[in-house]
Amino acid sequence: MTPGEHAPVGPATLRAAGLRRVFPHPGGDVEVLRGVDLTVEPGEFVTLAGRSGSGKSALVAVLCGFDRPDSGTVHIGGDRVTQDLPWRTCAVVPQSLGLTPELTAAENVALPLVLGGVPASEAAATAEALLSRVQLGAVADRRPGELSFGQQQRVALARAVSPRPAVLIADEPTAHLDTGTTPVVLDMLRDHAVGGGAVLVATHDDAVHQVADRRIDLSDGVLELSAANRSTTSPR
Ligand SMILES: Nc1ncnc2c1ncn2[C@@H]1O[C@H](COP(=O)(O)OP(=O)(O)OP(=O)(O)O)[C@@H](O)[C@H]1O
Ligand SMILES: [Mg+2]
Repeated sequence: MTPGEHAPVGPATLRAAGLRRVFPHPGGDVEVLRGVDLTVEPGEFVTLAGRSGSGKSALVAVLCGFDRPDSGTVHIGGDRVTQDLPWRTCAVVPQSLGLTPELTAAENVALPLVLGGVPASEAAATAEALLSRVQLGAVADRRPGELSFGQQQRVALARAVSPRPAVLIADEPTAHLDTGTTPVVLDMLRDHAVGGGAVLVATHDDAVHQVADRRIDLSDGVLELSAANRSTTSPR
């Protein structure tokens, strides 16, 4: 790592074109994505809706490079998305969270920063502040297995925003939260967009759709603009 490499990358657009993903199943192949085109601009907070099994998580996996499409492309800024994107280019809160079980909550949140070359003490201070913000300051030294799923979800979100990524993608980030903690998570997602990040959130939660700039629906393997779309100039 060279000094300064951990600085946030500049604003970058998430752009997908013609994404197709087919999964083999015993009863026949299932074409989950059938030509998905998607753009999320810097500063935009976009929600991705769709019934359970419609392919939201499959799309998220392709967008962040965890999975490869059978055809189509994903770019962040001018760069093609690959499997080993740095956290500061694209950070994800997967539906399965993917926290490192051996590390404490604070260490999990600090990890993207440390991997990006941030000095350990600075990374620890940022992690502490982020965990306090998601109301987890008191359990920062616990490992994921010692936290509820809803607490783990907030750790995963804090981990994702810690490197101030150009693109932030979250898959059902409020699914296990109560009405008290959901606003904390929504504020963090929205603030990331206000700060210039491109934010995409897959969700069934109306509370998330309501604070988004724009909503898109995945149905039959393609994206539709929702009638409930909000203008980017709508009051938040
Ligand atoms: N790795 C895989 N291998 C085979 N089939 C898969 C794989 N991943 C997803 N699928 C199938 O793709 C479809 C879409 O799944 P996905 O998890 O993306 O749905 P989802 O919209 O995220 O649902 P939910 O709202 O329940 O999270 C499902 O039919 C699922 O069985
Ligand atoms: Mg899903």
